[in-house]
Amino acid sequence: MTFAAITGWGKCMPPAVLSNADLATFLDTDDEWITQRTGIRERRVSHVCGTELAYVASARALACAGIAATDLDLIVYGSCSNDEHIPNSASGLSVRLGAGNAAAMDVNTACTSFLYGLSTATAMIRTGVVKTALVVGVEWISPFMDWHNRNVAVLFGDGCAAVVLQASDAESGVLAEKLGCYSDARAILRVRGSGLAYGYNGDVAYGDTLWDFDGQEIFKRAVHGMGESAAEALTRARKSPGDIDLIVPHQANLRIIEFVAKRAGIAMDRVFLTVHKYGNMSAATVPVALVEALEEGRMPAGGLLLTPAFGGGLTYCSHVIRWGERVTPLATSDVDLPPCERSALAIVRDYMARRDPRGRSFAGLNAPVFPEAKAGSGG
Ligand code: UT7
Repeated sequence: MTFAAITGWGKCMPPAVLSNADLATFLDTDDEWITQRTGIRERRVSHVCGTELAYVASARALACAGIAATDLDLIVYGSCSNDEHIPNSASGLSVRLGAGNAAAMDVNTACTSFLYGLSTATAMIRTGVVKTALVVGVEWISPFMDWHNRNVAVLFGDGCAAVVLQASDAESGVLAEKLGCYSDARAILRVRGSGLAYGYNGDVAYGDTLWDFDGQEIFKRAVHGMGESAAEALTRARKSPGDIDLIVPHQANLRIIEFVAKRAGIAMDRVFLTVHKYGNMSAATVPVALVEALEEGRMPAGGLLLTPAFGGGLTYCSHVIRWGERVTPLATSDVDLPPCERSALAIVRDYMARRDPRGRSFAGLNAPVFPEAKAGSGG
């Protein structure tokens, strides 16, 4: 039987930190409310686009696995904040890495995108379609955040991490999973202004999106979806809660995580948390937490993980994952982000004023990237 072992991992966190106190300078909120209701103290705001975060995280993951980009057969880019829709983001990452032998696909299931992508790549490896895959979870949410809305602006952050999967005979990687979607309730988590249904995307300036976000209903559905799928994934893997060494959950709200852990019968000392320092990074949340669990020595060699997650759609899932015997990188990469010259608050203030923090005008932004793609040039 073929398994899809996780043999490489890497993260890329943008350096600019936006604290709760920073948010209180322009929103009617305070550190006490945010900390008590969510557990979040700060989050990151990226000064580069999502594909750049993905490039750095991926270069680190490839080095960790000791393979070259040309060894990849498949790239799965899990995100709901793609730099472009056509061409897809995975192809942008592929050309940046020099992964000329890889198929390249995007997966968008919002916060669960990395995990749905992990299922996709694992299935392709297990069925022999590919042997080596890169799965990325990345979000660049800050440009389309509604920074005027305290209900959502305090919750989210930017970030990225990636893993390498390789075909293996040893029992390893995803052992079982349960995926699902409460599509009947999809309208309670929606970003209005993002997508062609709202007009040509290029005409929507930063700061022009409106978030529909029914926090309490999302909370209830998240606890239900993560709890039910965790129980089902454990049953499918023929494991019990006592077999789980570490839960690495999606991190939207500390209270949700506590409910899910309690329901699964797993104590909080077996849950790995990043929510206090990164907030909800949507698709990037679980992979960044996986990488940090390794960096902090919390990942036992050969350990069993549970990764319950929930997001827009409303998608949910849980995976039971067997980690390999190696918990340290084979090598490191010196690839890094360009320095960030500005504070997170300054970047956010530009978005609020509908300015591009990178100094381009919106007319410039709307200009096609490739000259031959100019409107009216035929074709
Ligand atoms: O990854 C996608 C999954 N996302 C989630 O799972 C999020 C799930 N939902 C939640 O985490 C929570 O529902 C929230 C953190 C979003 C909200 O917490 P809550 O305990 O459900 O608060 P609430 O919505 O019931 O709001 C309570 C009060 C309201 O004021 P009134 O109406 O009682 O006067 C809100 O207007 O808190 C107010 N409020 C705030 N106050 C200060 C809402 N946001 C803020 C804020 N600062 N940032």
